[in-house]
Amino acid sequence: MDNNGANGDIVLEISGLQKSFGDYTVLEDIELEISKGETIVLLGKSGTGKSVILQCIIGLLIPTKGTIKVFGEEFTNLPEDKKNLIRRRIGFLFQSGALYDSMTVRQNLEFPVIRQPDYKKSDLTPKVEEALKNVSLSDAVDKMPSELSGGMKKRIALARTLMLDPEIILYDEPTTGLDPVTSNEISHLILEMQKKFNVTSLIVTHDIPCAKLVADRIIVLKEGKITAMGSYDELEKSEDEFVRGFFEFS
Ligand SMILES: Nc1ncnc2c1ncn2[C@@H]1O[C@H](COP(=O)(O)OP(=O)(O)O)[C@@H](O)[C@H]1O
Ligand SMILES: [Mg+2]
Repeated sequence: MDNNGANGDIVLEISGLQKSFGDYTVLEDIELEISKGETIVLLGKSGTGKSVILQCIIGLLIPTKGTIKVFGEEFTNLPEDKKNLIRRRIGFLFQSGALYDSMTVRQNLEFPVIRQPDYKKSDLTPKVEEALKNVSLSDAVDKMPSELSGGMKKRIALARTLMLDPEIILYDEPTTGLDPVTSNEISHLILEMQKKFNVTSLIVTHDIPCAKLVADRIIVLKEGKITAMGSYDELEKSEDEFVRGFFEFS
């Protein structure tokens, strides 16, 4: 697909990012710029630091070296209250989905909003309705997570990130563990978020059909560095054996 919505504004800028745990260096040197409205897919073998990158971006992990600028602000060294203001503009879809099991769908969706100091109570119900409509699950509002299928849980988790009108959404393996039909539905939802809200997305996935559908650019992580970057069509034709490995089973 074309780079629709991207207008050259860099919303996320990662420079010289290194992350070590003790002696073990997971990320060696990551350089990445993402423009507003762009959808980037991050490929890499399990355990290579994809989730670590996402966690560094929202400051759940502190980089060992390097800088991360979000909306033009150097995130790493900001005080916690400033970090929270930036985090509020970033939706994070965790790998596990992570709904609160003891809360209804409505309560799950309200939760991130009522934690904001300035929320308006009268906004809650319309916001919940709108977010559920965006993921085509309006009927699920009073259900408990245990009553939802895996794909529905992912949709609700996405609806919950929409409650704060995110400008960036980070997706950690949004289709892993889902059947191909449901995976395809989630991939289309990701695409819709981009089109409807011009949201900037960074998606960690092994799902090549998903990457093909949504990605403006695909980046491939290997041994702590980005080893390849390009459109789906470019990378699919890559002569690099490592890169090919991701595409050959699709
Ligand atoms: N909080 C942590 N403390 C120590 N090691 C970690 C932590 N988070 C991740 N790691 C290690 O970093 C490596 C990359 O992890 P991760 O980013 O989760 O991989 P993946 O690419 O599968 O998402 C793994 O070896 C993991 O054990
Ligand atoms: Mg991971």
